[in-house]
Amino acid sequence: MNIAVFASGRGSNFLSILNACKAGIIPACISVLITNNENAGAREIAKSEHIPDVHFSRAHFKTDAEYTQNLLNLLKDSNASCIALAGYLKKIPALVVREFHNRILNIHPALLPLFGGEGMYGRYVHEAVLASGMKVSGATVHFVNEEYDRGAILIQRCVSVERFDTPETLAAKVLEVEHTIYPLALKALVEERVVFEGNKAWILE
Ligand code: GRF
Repeated sequence: MNIAVFASGRGSNFLSILNACKAGIIPACISVLITNNENAGAREIAKSEHIPDVHFSRAHFKTDAEYTQNLLNLLKDSNASCIALAGYLKKIPALVVREFHNRILNIHPALLPLFGGEGMYGRYVHEAVLASGMKVSGATVHFVNEEYDRGAILIQRCVSVERFDTPETLAAKVLEVEHTIYPLALKALVEERVVFEGNKAWILE
C-alpha cells in the first residue's frame, strides 16, 4: 500500500512515518511527498531517501478546479491509497477529501477539539494552551473532513503542562508524542483496523 505525505515545513513527522515504514511497523511505502513550500525541510529528507517530492502550489494553476484536478491526478499517479498530512498548512480541497473519504489523517499538536481550527498551528497552539491555564496538552491524530481539525479523532496522547513551560518546551514535549502516535495511527489505517461509529473512530487491537 502507498501513502502520500503532505508537509509544509521541517518534516519531523514525515521522517517518523518514513522510519516506521522502513522498519516494517507500517506495512506501506511513502510513494510521494507533496509540499506547498519550495523550501520545506521535508523535501531534503525525501530527496535523501529517493522519495518523489513534488512542489505543488495553488499559484501554479489558473483556477481552483484546475488545481484540484491536478492534485487528484498526482495522487492517482502515485498510486496512493491514503494520505498523511504532516505539518501541512493548506486546506485539502473538498473533492480530494471526498475521493479519499476516511483515508486522510492529520496530526495536530493539541488535544482536539480544543485549540484547533483555522489559524491554530505551530506556536499559536502552544501559546493558547499556556494562556488557558490547562495542566495537560497533547497530540491528536484525526481524520480529515471538510472542516479544519474537526474529523473523527483516532488517537490522542497527553503531556503535562508545567509551571515554567514556554511555547517551545511544550512544543518539544508534544512533538515527541506526535512521533509515537502518528505511526501507530497510520499502521492501524493501513492494516484496516479502524472502525467508525458516527463521528467516532476506534482502533481494533
Ligand atoms: C507538528 O507539530 C504537527 O502537529 C503540526 O505541524 C507540526 C509539523 O512538524 N501539524 P514537522 O514538520 O512534522 O516537524
